[in-house]
Amino acid sequence: MTELRDVGAPVIEGPVLEARDFRVWYATDRGPVRAVDGVSFSLRRGEILGLVGESGCGKSTLGRGLIGLLPDGSSRDGELEFEGRDMLALPGREQRALRGSDLGMIFQEPLTRLNPLMRISGHFEETLRIHRPELSKEEVEQQALAILRLMGIPPTRYHAYPHEFSGGMRQRLMIALALVLRPAFVVADEPTTALDVLVEAQIIRILHDLRTEFETALLLITHNLGIIAEACDRVAVMYAGEIVEIGDAKAVFSHPKHPYTRELLRSTISLSTTGLNYIDGAPPDLVEPPSGCHFHPRCPDAMQICAARHPVDRDHGDGHRAACWATDLAEGLTLDESDRAPLEREEIAVADEA
Ligand SMILES: Nc1ncnc2c1ncn2[C@@H]1O[C@H](COP(=O)(O)OP(=O)(O)OP(=O)(O)O)[C@@H](O)[C@H]1O
Ligand code: SF4
Ligand SMILES: [Mg+2]
Repeated sequence: MTELRDVGAPVIEGPVLEARDFRVWYATDRGPVRAVDGVSFSLRRGEILGLVGESGCGKSTLGRGLIGLLPDGSSRDGELEFEGRDMLALPGREQRALRGSDLGMIFQEPLTRLNPLMRISGHFEETLRIHRPELSKEEVEQQALAILRLMGIPPTRYHAYPHEFSGGMRQRLMIALALVLRPAFVVADEPTTALDVLVEAQIIRILHDLRTEFETALLLITHNLGIIAEACDRVAVMYAGEIVEIGDAKAVFSHPKHPYTRELLRSTISLSTTGLNYIDGAPPDLVEPPSGCHFHPRCPDAMQICAARHPVDRDHGDGHRAACWATDLAEGLTLDESDRAPLEREEIAVADEA
């Protein structure tokens, strides 16, 4: 993959999105599934934040929760501000109006999102008619062709049908449709997982370059740590519904502060390897997550305090945040000897059953 880091355009300061103690849960017969359990972070204009973590940890739920695209039976609380607006207090109608115009989503499966019976021109006309009714048909075409050109799709394909495009081109069409209204914030949920490596690299380059053109802030969900290293400014590592570490992508990858991040990096054979489920032990049940630090049953560094008390989310400098007792101890926090004692595997099993 080509080096992308130096291409970055200047990032304008000031958060476009800010989440504080943000939660999303799904009601089930067993009780609430706490898929997003108190996350806090902000995104600046034009910034790309990578979101990584094993399957089922809550990445898609967080992405969808931020733009209010959740299924029935789910609930959100905490604080969520978008361009200074309190999103959780905003009436549904106003939230829907924001989606598509200011908030966008790029999904993994473009074919399921594009209408097979509608030409590409029809998709653009529909999107723009809803959100920009003042535009004439010619203006719609102008805007659509401009963004298609940016995505490397020739204007001669404007009247083609979705099935006439390759997988990579369809994904670029989806990106073009998500961006034609110049949203301030877009969630891309594993946008390249179904694509081959070269097409993936091309799409990541496009997403990366978008900041220059649109100043769009992007939450990029992926299993591929190589993509994060190449394309993202910052990375957030999620475990069991929580962000356990967040910071500058280079800093997090070179000096991880959380054992889960460290294990994640170690379990990945090379940065281009996908699939992160090589860490011993099973992902936790989000209806009844483990006590204290949710990672303690699988953590090689677990101490007595880890099973008893939830670690504190601390800034370790330059916005590099992590929640881990062992890191705190290494950086000078005083803990009682009994708290510092290693947590034995048998004790972990007992704590789990309790
Ligand atoms: N509609 C739903 N009802 C109940 N539980 C759900 C629902 N959708 C997701 N979940 C649960 O919420 C948790 C988080 O799911 P989510 O899809 O956000 O994970 P993810 O990190 O995106 O996983 P993946 O990497 O596999 O896409 C999982 O335990 C999942 O089973
Ligand atoms: S708080 Fe304890 S169990 Fe959790 S990651 Fe840190 S050392 Fe491991
Ligand atoms: Mg997902």
